[in-house]
Amino acid sequence: MNKTKYLITSALPYINGLPHLGHMVGCLLPSDVYARFMRMQGKDVLYICGTDEHGTASEVAALKAGVPVQEYCDDFHEQHKKIYQAFNLSFDYLGRTSTEQNKEMTYRIAEELDKNGFFEEKTIKQVFSVDDNQFLADRYITGTCPHCGYEKARGDQCENCTKVLDPTDLINARSTISGSTNLEVRETKHLFIKLSALQPKLKAWLETKEFTWPEVAYSIAQKWLKEGLQERCITRDLKWGFPVNKEGFEDKVFYVWFDAPIGYIGITKQWSDEKPAERSWEDWWLKPDDVHYVEFMGKDNVPYHTITFPATLMGTGENWKLVDYLKGMSYLTFNGGKFSKSEQVGIFCDQAVQEFPADYWRYWLMANAPESSDSSFTFEAFASTINKDLNDVLGNFINRVLKMTTSNFGQIVPDGGVEGDDEKALYTRLDELIADYTKYMNEMEFRKALSTLREIWVEGNNYIARNEPWKVVKTDKERAAVILRTALNMIPLFAVLSAPVMPETSEKMLKLMNLSSENLTWVKADASDVLKQLSVGHEFNAPELLFSKISAEQVEELAIRYKEKKEV
Ligand code: 2FM
Ligand code: ZN
Repeated sequence: MNKTKYLITSALPYINGLPHLGHMVGCLLPSDVYARFMRMQGKDVLYICGTDEHGTASEVAALKAGVPVQEYCDDFHEQHKKIYQAFNLSFDYLGRTSTEQNKEMTYRIAEELDKNGFFEEKTIKQVFSVDDNQFLADRYITGTCPHCGYEKARGDQCENCTKVLDPTDLINARSTISGSTNLEVRETKHLFIKLSALQPKLKAWLETKEFTWPEVAYSIAQKWLKEGLQERCITRDLKWGFPVNKEGFEDKVFYVWFDAPIGYIGITKQWSDEKPAERSWEDWWLKPDDVHYVEFMGKDNVPYHTITFPATLMGTGENWKLVDYLKGMSYLTFNGGKFSKSEQVGIFCDQAVQEFPADYWRYWLMANAPESSDSSFTFEAFASTINKDLNDVLGNFINRVLKMTTSNFGQIVPDGGVEGDDEKALYTRLDELIADYTKYMNEMEFRKALSTLREIWVEGNNYIARNEPWKVVKTDKERAAVILRTALNMIPLFAVLSAPVMPETSEKMLKLMNLSSENLTWVKADASDVLKQLSVGHEFNAPELLFSKISAEQVEELAIRYKEKKEV
């Protein structure tokens, strides 16, 4: 692949509510790890994210909070931003979908679609709440399920028996917003995008992705195509959104799922407007040939990114950049169940970073990323990984090597001796592992990548255990110097390799070795060179503990506090 620019986007989190660990590992964190890795490889990266702000969900949340929706979004945007900073997400820009720039893009795309004949006007029947003075989306109507009698069934589906419903099926239907039962079915005119007319072009494009996209993404897209694409309504009778720029529809707004993915473009324009010295947004979105575009998202978002968004862009007839690789993630559960803010079950990202350093979460989440199937978070599993991988393997290695060197040679890289067979064997093994790790990171196979990273750290411990420098130093100081010099050189190597996943720890490791963490580059030379880079006499700092263990008592207490287990 000869593309020079890498456009990386994470799905734009809904503004209403704060992200939990599932959101973090579903798109935000893997995209950050990939963006950091690509930058370290010297690629020209633009990494974009933002808050997804329109729609009924934000309106209702603002209403509940008793503040105007704009104010609600301003406040929550700042809260999201703080959390992402605490997790060290390295966006080039964290924007918003409700901006003027996104409105401009949404209007531009809608006008082109209309001009090219891909819009259709249809009158549909929808439930109107007289007391709320608004049409209600199906999921904002509550009532008793006619199939199982569940009293809080939603107008689109019963959560209890999972049957798909029509709002008119509900017994004692009421508005979820106000509780009013004063509901009427009224006619309303909307705009639909004719996806069926775009199906052949979309199908041909999607077929080029077979065997290159993850199975979860490709199969979801294929399923939609096989079922045949239907017209999709892209307008809503709401106040909060972009007013539709078409005569006769001025009192409606675009549907949140119409302007949200366009938000990737709108946010890029926000970025380029604020940083005029940088290249313009058009370089990333309208000159596709030298851009490689990677999208990260949870699997529920896949249909919008493989079907509706690409079809929308294709329908304009303009040369928009379409996604090249789509990393669709499965779900993370909380001990097999759902995270729920309202029930206060599960750990949310703002709480997570108050309990443990961000790197603990970043490491655990990436090592257990829900890639081919769902994965489950438990505090026990979390503690076990942190204690074993970070404390016993990585932390212990660094601590021992620095201490042993200090007590025998002082706080410097020792001189003397020449490398022997065991060092050569170590170089070969590390070369293999680094090649595998780099390959997995390039392929975004994060679980495999992280288990290889761990194997690399283990090689450090094995090397020390095999060579026993604490014994050798008593009889052969030259040989001990070789062993410890080689081991000391592994610390900056491990720091570079760990940097995309654990940026703070990587920085600390480099600081211990008196090295800069600015502009880190990926390992290019082979291990035989890399492990000789610290010059003899180079001073390092006194060891400090990089990690602390999580005790069984802490696990028990956390599990109760975050309702993983019932209090006994
Ligand atoms: O699932 C979500 O959180 C959506 N807000 C994702 C939108 S992605 C993009 F299209 F904006
Ligand atoms: Zn039911």
